[in-house]
Amino acid sequence: MKNKVIGIIYIIILIILIIISRNIIKETKDINTETRFEEQIKKIPYYKEENLKRYQNYKKQNKDYSNNEIITNVNIGLDQPFYTNIQPSPRTNTPQVLVNKYNYLEKDYVPKNLELINEKYSNTGMRLVKEARIAFESLAENAAKDGFTITAMSTYRSYSYQESLYNRYKEKDGVELTDTYSARAGHSEHQTGLAIDVYNKKQPYTSFEQTKEFTWMQENAYKYGYILRYPKDKEYITGYQYEPWHYRYVGTEISTYIQKHNITYDEYFIRNLET
Ligand code: DAL
Ligand code: ZN
Repeated sequence: MKNKVIGIIYIIILIILIIISRNIIKETKDINTETRFEEQIKKIPYYKEENLKRYQNYKKQNKDYSNNEIITNVNIGLDQPFYTNIQPSPRTNTPQVLVNKYNYLEKDYVPKNLELINEKYSNTGMRLVKEARIAFESLAENAAKDGFTITAMSTYRSYSYQESLYNRYKEKDGVELTDTYSARAGHSEHQTGLAIDVYNKKQPYTSFEQTKEFTWMQENAYKYGYILRYPKDKEYITGYQYEPWHYRYVGTEISTYIQKHNITYDEYFIRNLET
């Protein structure tokens, strides 16, 4: 009887020891993995020391992401909900300005050098920043030569205009749905004077994807410094539904890179332009 009890106690102690040692092995493994992760990400050029904890937490929730994706997404701000920890937009009054759900333009920000677009290629009264205006006219002119009609239907929008637009949508659709397709005031690229919504004058802009003009834009827009700003399947990065009609002027060097690598401007900026 006594021996039986001693035997059971031994077995219990043995089980406890096994459990403890397995936990120690697992913890050691976790520490090693974390250390390795830390060592690797520190080599990435856009790694930021102050974001280390966020990288680690984000990695735990997104084990399949590459280290580059972890660093990029956290630097964009994607480990926090949209419109969290918003910062003033960097590089205002340049074609590189970043405006998204984490970066905003001030209420009184009006870009310099806004100019009217030639009405051959635009609805009445549409304005863009000079450089973007010249590039767009050249794009539309060359498209027209090939029989394609690319017309600007919404370009520069002031803070207050965007505010009234967003509020109108919000009353109809509620905040959650509106946020998927309309920017809150200060967060619209249209306020930069570098963004443009196009259509072909025959179909509404919402059907632009089905037009031959869209195919032309896919193949040619980058040659004039324009990129498709809210691509399909990148909603989790841009925060917006796919918008086949919305283009953004960034200059030909950047547009060529983005066309080749199929990335969003948010990713491009974080990896190449953030200092
Ligand atoms: N539709 C785009 C996201 C805007 O409102 O600026
Ligand atoms: Zn737009």
